[in-house]
Amino acid sequence: MTQLVRVGIASTGSFLPETVMSNDDFARIVDTSDEWITQRTGIRERRFVADEQSTSDLCVEAARMALERAGIGPEDLDLIIVGTLTADYLMPSAACLVQDRLGAKNAGAFDVAAACTGFLTALQTAEAFVASGRKRRVLAIGAESLSRFVDMTDRTSCILFGDGAGAAVVTPWEDCEQAEILAARMGADGSGYDFITIPTGGSKAPPHSPQYVKDDHFIQLKGREVYRFAVGKMVEMIQSVLEGHDADEVGLVVPHQVNKRIIDASLDRLGIDEERCMVNIDKYGNTSAASVPIALDEALETGRIEKGKLVVLVAFGAGLTWGASLLRW
Ligand SMILES: CC(C)(COP(=O)(O)OP(=O)(O)OC[C@H]1O[C@@H](n2cnc3c(N)ncnc32)[C@H](O)[C@@H]1OP(=O)(O)O)[C@@H](O)C(=O)NCCC(=O)NCCS
Repeated sequence: MTQLVRVGIASTGSFLPETVMSNDDFARIVDTSDEWITQRTGIRERRFVADEQSTSDLCVEAARMALERAGIGPEDLDLIIVGTLTADYLMPSAACLVQDRLGAKNAGAFDVAAACTGFLTALQTAEAFVASGRKRRVLAIGAESLSRFVDMTDRTSCILFGDGAGAAVVTPWEDCEQAEILAARMGADGSGYDFITIPTGGSKAPPHSPQYVKDDHFIQLKGREVYRFAVGKMVEMIQSVLEGHDADEVGLVVPHQVNKRIIDASLDRLGIDEERCMVNIDKYGNTSAASVPIALDEALETGRIEKGKLVVLVAFGAGLTWGASLLRW
């Protein structure tokens, strides 16, 4: 059997657009309140892209930060993978726009479609390329402009989402000597495809077809069903990726920022206390594929990750999809 290369994360970066949408801003648009949103979700505000911005712009900013911190240039990249459900175009991929804007002339580029599990899917794909020896420096990005796809008349969904991007440079561990990826899990259950959807605009109901309904081109979700699925799956994923390790060894869990109550309920079941969990949903809402890398980057920048400790990244989302990665920093 081929000896696999040990893989690590050399650096991270993140970017949040400037426009802040507070809960009170939403209370002026739909029948809701700061109190309801804060209590039910933990969200206080989120960021929205400006009119002239789109997902690739957010990716480029996060990517430049990660490259600078890794001490490498764009031409050193072999591959760029973007996890997103809100690429600038249906075609081409956001990754190709990023490749061009960065000047990553030696890199291949593609997007992965795994919704809120997008960054973990990009990270695990990057890990597999590096582990096999096929690529040496891979940029994994999670980025979204969800504000472009929320129905601002639907109070049950519009208050949940925000925009942003996070990135990580993935290399052989011997090149960076930190954040070794020890284990990874990935799963899907397409029978739950209608829990979270954007029903029109794809090949099933393309624009200008009789099936196309203009106002269906928004995120639709079955919030309660997702809630029930999410708690169980988060617990299962963390337990599974920690196989062979004790929960006490965990320095930090960086979960998908879906809902503070979902995060709290899951960690409570696992006996992992709040201090060992990274939560920033209050500032950014649910940024889908971007939420884990943004939270990871903030955890690193604020000294929440101790060298030598285990870090668990975990996410789930539309598809249904889910994933978790275990690292030792
Ligand atoms: C959406 C979510 C916050 C709703 O919280 P909840 O506690 O489950 O609330 P419910 O859906 O049971 O709704 C309770 C009531 O609040 C109302 N409500 C919903 N959104 C509201 C809002 N923004 N403001 C005020 N009231 C609201 C509902 O209409 C309902 O009223 P009713 O009892 O008169 O019917 C929660 O289910 C959730 O976070 N789900 C997962 C989100 C998700 O799918 N994310 C994307 C995938 S990663």
